[in-house]
Amino acid sequence: GAPVEVNIAALEEGALVSVTWRGKPVWVVRRTPEMLKTLDEVAPELADPESKTDQQPEYCRNKHRSIEPAVLVMVGICTHLGCSPKYRPEADGGQLSYSGFFCPCHGSKFDIAGRVYSGVPAPLNMVVPPHRYEGDSLIMVG
Ligand code: FES
Repeated sequence: GAPVEVNIAALEEGALVSVTWRGKPVWVVRRTPEMLKTLDEVAPELADPESKTDQQPEYCRNKHRSIEPAVLVMVGICTHLGCSPKYRPEADGGQLSYSGFFCPCHGSKFDIAGRVYSGVPAPLNMVVPPHRYEGDSLIMVG
């Protein structure tokens, strides 16, 4: 199918916008500087902090799992049994120690790059879909 366009010109820091691509939710989050700092801090709690599994395009196999460091583009589906994790922009003190995503179905936890924590049911980091930029603010997903 045709790529799906996401214009992020008006997307504020910390905000998430969702679009549908091939019947799946794709989330775009403009991460705050504080969120980006947590990417290192959370690493010891993660199952695959370097994203060695094939869950992202080669050009997103980096610390941020993204093209633009601040902008996360990710399929919003839990890698356990396919529920939709909840976006938690702030650490909530209970379920998540850092910004990220919490899946209410069976308690899987992901960081703000969609990397899965150790010891939860989800086996893999969340999926980063193929995408590219046209200019600064237009993302083409697919
Ligand atoms: Fe997300 Fe099971 S579907 S934890």
